[in-house]
Amino acid sequence: MIDEVLVQREAAALMPTYRRQQVGFVRGEGASLWDAEGRRYVDCMAGISMNNVGHCHPAVVAAVREQAGRLINTSNLYYTEPMIALAEWIRDNSLGGRVFFCNSGAEASEAALKLARKRGGPARPEVVALADGFHGRTYGALSLTGQPSKQEPFAPLVPGVRHVDRDDPAGLAAAVGDRTCAIVLEIVQGEVGVFPVADEVVRLARELADRHGALLIVDEIQTGLSRTGPLFAYQEAGIVPDVMCLAKSLGGGLPIGAIVARPEHDAVLQPGDHGSTFAGSPLACAAGLAACGVLGDPVLQASVRDKGARLLDGLRGLVADGLATEARGRGLMCAIDLPRPRAAAATEALLGEGFLVNNTSPRTIRMLPPLVIDQGDLDDLVAVLRRVLAGV
Ligand SMILES: Cc1ncc(COP(=O)(O)O)c(C=O)c1O
Repeated sequence: MIDEVLVQREAAALMPTYRRQQVGFVRGEGASLWDAEGRRYVDCMAGISMNNVGHCHPAVVAAVREQAGRLINTSNLYYTEPMIALAEWIRDNSLGGRVFFCNSGAEASEAALKLARKRGGPARPEVVALADGFHGRTYGALSLTGQPSKQEPFAPLVPGVRHVDRDDPAGLAAAVGDRTCAIVLEIVQGEVGVFPVADEVVRLARELADRHGALLIVDEIQTGLSRTGPLFAYQEAGIVPDVMCLAKSLGGGLPIGAIVARPEHDAVLQPGDHGSTFAGSPLACAAGLAACGVLGDPVLQASVRDKGARLLDGLRGLVADGLATEARGRGLMCAIDLPRPRAAAATEALLGEGFLVNNTSPRTIRMLPPLVIDQGDLDDLVAVLRRVLAGV
């Protein structure tokens, strides 16, 4: 599965910030990855939802080839058309206002936070976010991330952020006030193990933001671009955010992030307020336009709902048989909890069977397959899970 020499070279050359699974890949297509020995693996992670279109989607490959041969990047000192076209696509398919490009999810969180802080000014220094949420690992993004274990080694963080449990509407109402510049949340908390935030809580956040003059910032970095079925998960929660964060699948595999605002908030950031040398490159945006063309297709979105419902049914079958204690999912964003802390062992055993998943905690396994995955691969995943969980 992995050449021992490569493992040693990696350990000697890279800081040990990742616990990599013991496999390396040399080729991908759709939901399939192949190692150097030619063994096929079913990718049920899509690069943590970065490859919703699947590996090497022909439309993305063609766009990248064409753009790479013409112009890769120029910086933001100049006009380039792909960035304008991708911003138009995002604007017209979401909040209707203008877009700021960056290079990752954490940078999208940073940009949203800066927008909210600038708009709120010194009278509104406070931000309310949800406990267990994940918004990235740079300082602003980490400060929004409601996970003390990730924050503590890096204190002091950006001040003014309060966290409230996702199932505590009274706590949310008490935390938001006239000093709040923004409420930040995911519609489904992904990194912590796929926990949907109740629609009532999302709607309450909208009401509170309106009542107190704060912004509602929705992080769709993992849930967005048809992962949960609709193009954006907020569309089924019955609200419209003021600002939305995007990244991951927006680039079809290339690094890109973005925020989009409603028109009334899209002029807060002015020249000199924020920027990035690489952001909005012709290459990433050409790939992004191709990826969005695929992911915006209602036929694909309907298939995500169907495949997701059938996968969740299969996972619920594992619960019924005592192999798991809970199954959660929205579209093709699913997780199961195990009765014992054996998720790492199960993930390793699944790898041995040729299936890639990840454990978000000692008891939780998360699945984020490319949206183009075949039904047969998903049925096989459930069958292999059944076998593996019976043995770990
Ligand atoms: C909801 C959410 N926000 C932000 C991020 C951070 O994105 P990135 O890793 O591109 O910085 C992630 C990454 O997993 C995420 O799931």
